[in-house]
Amino acid sequence: MTELVMDEKYTSRGSSWSRQKDLRPKNHLIVALFIMCCYLSFYGWSGISQAKDGPNYFEYSDENINWKPCNNSNSLPLECSSIKVPIDQFDLEHPRNETFIIPLIRMRGINATQNLFLNPGGPGASGFDLLHRRGEQLKAIIGEGFHLVSFDPRGVNNSVPRASCYPDERTRQELSRVRSLDVLSDSPEVFAWAKNFIQACPDTMGEYAKYLNTPQTAADMNDILDALGQEDMIYWGFSYGSLLGQTYAGLFPERSKRIIIDGVIDQFDWYGGLFEAQSLVDTDMVLDGFFEECVKSGPERCPLARMAATKKELRGKVLSSMTVLQDQPISVYINKSIHGLLDYEKLWFNGVFPALHKPSMWSELAHNMYNVFQGNATDAFLAYGNQEAQKWRHEAFEFITLNDGISGPEHWPQDRQTFLDKIAPLFNLSLFSPVQSKNYYLRQQWTVSRTHSYVPRKNMKTAHPLLILSTTYDPVCPLIAAKTANEAFEGSKIVEVSGYGHCSIAVPSLCLAKYVRAFLYEGRLPHTYTQCEVDSPYFHESDKSGQSSPQRVFEDTEEAEIHLAQVLLADGWDFASAN
Ligand SMILES: *[C@@H]1O[C@H](CO)[C@@H](O)[C@H](O)[C@H]1NC(C)=O
Ligand SMILES: *[C@@H]1O[C@H](CO)[C@@H](O)[C@H](O)[C@H]1NC(C)=O
Ligand SMILES: *[C@@H]1O[C@H](CO)[C@@H](O)[C@H](O)[C@H]1NC(C)=O
Ligand SMILES: *[C@@H]1O[C@H](CO)[C@@H](O)[C@H](O)[C@H]1NC(C)=O
Ligand SMILES: *[C@@H]1O[C@H](CO)[C@@H](O)[C@H](O)[C@H]1NC(C)=O
Ligand SMILES: *[C@@H]1O[C@H](CO)[C@@H](O)[C@H](O)[C@H]1NC(C)=O
Ligand SMILES: *[C@@H]1O[C@H](CO)[C@@H](O)[C@H](O)[C@H]1NC(C)=O
Repeated sequence: MTELVMDEKYTSRGSSWSRQKDLRPKNHLIVALFIMCCYLSFYGWSGISQAKDGPNYFEYSDENINWKPCNNSNSLPLECSSIKVPIDQFDLEHPRNETFIIPLIRMRGINATQNLFLNPGGPGASGFDLLHRRGEQLKAIIGEGFHLVSFDPRGVNNSVPRASCYPDERTRQELSRVRSLDVLSDSPEVFAWAKNFIQACPDTMGEYAKYLNTPQTAADMNDILDALGQEDMIYWGFSYGSLLGQTYAGLFPERSKRIIIDGVIDQFDWYGGLFEAQSLVDTDMVLDGFFEECVKSGPERCPLARMAATKKELRGKVLSSMTVLQDQPISVYINKSIHGLLDYEKLWFNGVFPALHKPSMWSELAHNMYNVFQGNATDAFLAYGNQEAQKWRHEAFEFITLNDGISGPEHWPQDRQTFLDKIAPLFNLSLFSPVQSKNYYLRQQWTVSRTHSYVPRKNMKTAHPLLILSTTYDPVCPLIAAKTANEAFEGSKIVEVSGYGHCSIAVPSLCLAKYVRAFLYEGRLPHTYTQCEVDSPYFHESDKSGQSSPQRVFEDTEEAEIHLAQVLLADGWDFASAN
């Protein structure tokens, strides 16, 4: 393993003894010492003192906010806080009363003096969930040299106010359902549905509606940095987090010291393009990868391989079986209270599409599909048949994408048929293109005005070049977008994992983890375009216990730990919520 040494800057800033001297005398020093003892074993001695907000709160001498412990059920040592940010970060000359409250969460690193920001994507995925569910594995991959910080961006989950187009959850469940996946026959319905939706959103959010966008969130990240007393942005953003990272780097290049973007979105398309069609250019390649790896693995590991001898033949058989399912859904009867239908849309869009993001689901998908094609849809129905209409209890995704991008009547024909003729060609780009259908109707009709003036630029020079991560075939964030970012940010370098899935973390690769550490700790980038191998097979014997287990043996203890963390992350990451 490459020797990983911490860069001068990060070790010299605030050694434990200089920190201890910083400790300001406080009235409650005794209590503070007590609290310190509780946290010492995890947090180390780093200038903790009790804060005035109450006995559960504490603060660090070089920060401007208070924290309180917020362990989850796994007893991970987490601390939580929040900051208030102005409703309009780009008009501070006219201060307003309205603010957003942004919750913060942090997992401390034993040897850390700097904070690394993480964003799980979406837009709309919660940084709280990320650290609660996956913090332990991210920590194992990154090492103890950074505190991991995440947050619920404005509008998301526990931020206040939350982005919403409905007065309550019950109304959301009732009114949010609309059919859109059959792009031609569902068009009249989704067109009419969108008309109500785009009215309900500003009705629900009032003044706040137009300030839910990515440039505002990028500026909020500076307020968080300032509250943490840190000058440099150190960041790893996944999927939509790559768009947030590029936006941050574009707006604040001088603070962009260590920016990693992973599973890249084309920011020029996002802010300035009518169509997002490019995002699906590699989707069907991932499906082909599924077939190819299946045939290679053989029927023992991939039951679908019983149906064909080559990738091409398998593809043909599966697609024609899907057509049969399109004509005739299969009924599944479990008992008198659980029964229903497995139809084409459930299998294709709830089963296959999410699995393209996440190869750890391939074995199960192959098993379920094979059984469906043999006439038994029970397992597939149980796995894909009962999905909730809404993945989140908020509409941050809609507000942010629509406010960021080219939306509204001035950009789109308002007549339904003219509009449909314009978007129709997009739907034969990929077998999965219909997933984008609904959002086009929202773009067409959205009336909230744009409040940011961010325009992505080429030849951006940042404080330190960006590290860009991608798989070879990503179903929603294709490699071509990573190349576009590479051209836009001076000196940036791409590390490509030679595999399938959404973001580098979709598959374990120790090689990738080493590049990430070298970049974070030493600022080191590979000299040229670099590829890393995947460390595990796509189809493996199913582990009866349901536990994730190492896929390869590494002699070195640390390498073995990183590998296991990557396997767990690839199995557990909730890509359904990280678009
Ligand atoms: C948080 O978790 C750590 C590690 O398990 C534990 O030592 C600590 O006591 C916990 N704190 C609280 C307040 O539960
Ligand atoms: C802000 O709040 C203050 C106190 O509540 C109020 O007097 C003032 O009118 C508010 N200003 C605006 C612009 O809403
Ligand atoms: C913390 O840093 C010290 C000194 O560099 C090192 O010896 C130790 O192994 C590190 N601890 C962890 C948990 O990384
Ligand atoms: C949002 O916050 C709640 C806690 O209030 C948490 O239980 C939930 O998992 C979070 N995430 C999402 C996506 O709702
Ligand atoms: C139906 O099956 C489900 C799942 O196996 C079970 O939880 C439920 O109790 C059953 N209901 C009846 C009425 O048998
Ligand atoms: C269908 O599959 C389920 C689950 O694998 C199994 O329990 C059931 O017996 C199968 N039904 C038939 C008719 O083979
Ligand atoms: C895509 O759609 C256009 C217009 O709807 C059609 O003319 C073309 O043949 C389609 N291409 C493919 C590859 O299906």
